[in-house]
Amino acid sequence: MKNILLLARSATTGAALREMEGLRDQTVSLPGVARVLFAFAEEGTPSLRSAIDELMQVQEPVMILPILVPVEPSFITGVKRSLQRWQGADTRPWPEIRIAPGFSRQTMMRELLAATVDAAEREAVTIEKVTTPPALEGSVVPAQRRRVLVCQGGPCIRAGAEMIWGHLRNEQKRLSLRTTGEGTMSAKTSCLGPCSLAPVLQVWPEGTFYGGVDEAGVDRIVESHLLRGEVVDDLAYLPTGTKQRLRG
Ligand code: FES
Repeated sequence: MKNILLLARSATTGAALREMEGLRDQTVSLPGVARVLFAFAEEGTPSLRSAIDELMQVQEPVMILPILVPVEPSFITGVKRSLQRWQGADTRPWPEIRIAPGFSRQTMMRELLAATVDAAEREAVTIEKVTTPPALEGSVVPAQRRRVLVCQGGPCIRAGAEMIWGHLRNEQKRLSLRTTGEGTMSAKTSCLGPCSLAPVLQVWPEGTFYGGVDEAGVDRIVESHLLRGEVVDDLAYLPTGTKQRLRG
């Protein structure tokens, strides 16, 4: 009997969450499947980390099934590295965890697409032409003073930056960081420069680089830098103009 973890990228709305619940329910009804959980690699709960914690109670082999199309190889690498990092820092015994290739590599994809096209024919909604575009609503210019840029360049993605982004966003929501302290907003960016320090994030207005950041590092940066304005020196890298390597 299989234990399956459906891994999506992110979900921020109830509708997306319900879609994942539906996929979970359909998967668990398949023959030979004992247990199905779902998780989000980036923003949204349950996170990959919390799903793994739940599966550890069972101590049976787990297969992670990424349900993304397409799946960048760097995404799989990032997930693997994050799992290895969490496992390395965890004294509990871990079950065997495997990760499947991309969803679209499955041989049944053609049949799945055929069924989907048939259903789509019945359910698709027509986008009607409108003569007057909807009026734009006004925008509030954010008062937040702090910005966290989370690098999503190739080397950072391979080092698990998507999981770091997801953890930061989940914490930002949980702690109401937009309105707490001086107010924080966050954004994904392309390469920030110091790729050898991946995964990298940068906190403004100071422009402080943090490299080799994991979830515990994000927690410290939130607690110290974002909420109290104090740079976390042992995680920070100053732009010295000379080559710097990851500590430890
Ligand atoms: S890819 Fe992240 S700093 Fe270059």
